[in-house]
Amino acid sequence: MSEENNEYELNQTDEYVNHLADVQDTHPATASEDILNEHGVLLLKKGAVINQKVAGHLVQHKLKKELDQSISVANPLTVYDILNQILELVESESELNLLHQHFEFEVTLRQLLFVKPIPAQILQRLTVMQEVMPDLYKRSLFCAWMAPLLAKIQDLPHQSYFSAFAAGLSHDIGLLHIPVEAATKQEGLTYQQWRALKTHPIVARIILEGRKIYDEDVLSAVADHQERCDRSGYPAQKPAKEINWAAPLVGLADQLFDIFYDKERTSRTILTWNAYLEVNMSTFGVRNVEALLAVLKEPKISSHVNKALPEVNVGSVSRQNDQVHQLFEMAVELFDIASDYPCSRIARGVSECITQLRWVRDSAGMGSEHLSEWLGWGEKNKDQIDQVEMSEISELLTCLLWRFRHLWRLAVELSWNDKLPAEDKAKIEALYKKMQPLLPRPGLIDPEAPEPEEQTAAMANE
Ligand SMILES: [Fe+2]
Repeated sequence: MSEENNEYELNQTDEYVNHLADVQDTHPATASEDILNEHGVLLLKKGAVINQKVAGHLVQHKLKKELDQSISVANPLTVYDILNQILELVESESELNLLHQHFEFEVTLRQLLFVKPIPAQILQRLTVMQEVMPDLYKRSLFCAWMAPLLAKIQDLPHQSYFSAFAAGLSHDIGLLHIPVEAATKQEGLTYQQWRALKTHPIVARIILEGRKIYDEDVLSAVADHQERCDRSGYPAQKPAKEINWAAPLVGLADQLFDIFYDKERTSRTILTWNAYLEVNMSTFGVRNVEALLAVLKEPKISSHVNKALPEVNVGSVSRQNDQVHQLFEMAVELFDIASDYPCSRIARGVSECITQLRWVRDSAGMGSEHLSEWLGWGEKNKDQIDQVEMSEISELLTCLLWRFRHLWRLAVELSWNDKLPAEDKAKIEALYKKMQPLLPRPGLIDPEAPEPEEQTAAMANE
């Protein structure tokens, strides 16, 4: 498959066949007709169930027909199941329900589920996803709720809600078609795994396109859901003006899910969204972000939020500020190198990402010496510190450190570009190695990953 996976073909078999075998006890997938390979050779007889052995036989074949058209998955989800599961998810969390009720969203959601039928093949995939990747399925349900809610919050035209809903529900079905490790690992992906992960939005688009139900708006929103307005996304590091309008709503919903359900947090609260939104205005588009921020600050919402951010210690906030300060210093040199390669998409991504990070620093003072001095004073005068304010600053700094993690990934990718002279590659490598220990988590990709011949492929795709 190519970098952007335009070569993905609907009649190829891949990891999805193994997932079908994984659900054979609860949702057996049966061949509804003889399954033949592209040369007409019989691979599976009508009526046979896809089990591990069959999957091993089918995988990596090119079929005469799309696999989806020749199988049926037992006990598939229905539209009503999906509606009820979304309502259950939202209503089980008082703060999510607060937004749900405030925007009278149940009525909207019920309408959205019946604007167009959800294709049977998509319901089958969601059925499989629910079993084999339950967290991913929960996230898809959340995005199907949150993305159109973000559209409603902004008072976008009513017909736009459907694009946000449909894209939100099925944006990650492409993850069922790539190796499980690539789809689920949060750090240290090998070069091949990273390349596979980068294809998932395009794979999802191709699958949805094949159903001939969704319009270009939905398809582009799915294809662009990992792109970011500051060019830190993937697979194409598109600039903001080229990204479909609904894609940032899906991308933002994805992130809000991660933050809300973060297992490392002791309590779930929408208060944690505030800092993320403040720091990521330029990541998802100012208009999208400001609209939600304004809602969260409305007394009708904020006065009903009873939870609080966890208390933090001034010393650890001070250390976070120092880390951010150091990362900004490293970004100066990285920016200079990237500016020399205006023809490289990754280099333009690095430059834009740093420009947007600087905007956050200049407007909010994060990583500044002024904040450092104030925190130093706070360490000596702990009794005079406002805990709420301190928690909010800590959240902002944490979110900024995560943005630097995206920049780190871009820097690693830039260092793989063989068009760069060895001297610049070495400088970038030295910089990202210095950045690494300051990040909130090890990087998404393994910087040592590419094999020599694969570096050439990386270059070809620039
Ligand atoms: Fe995704």
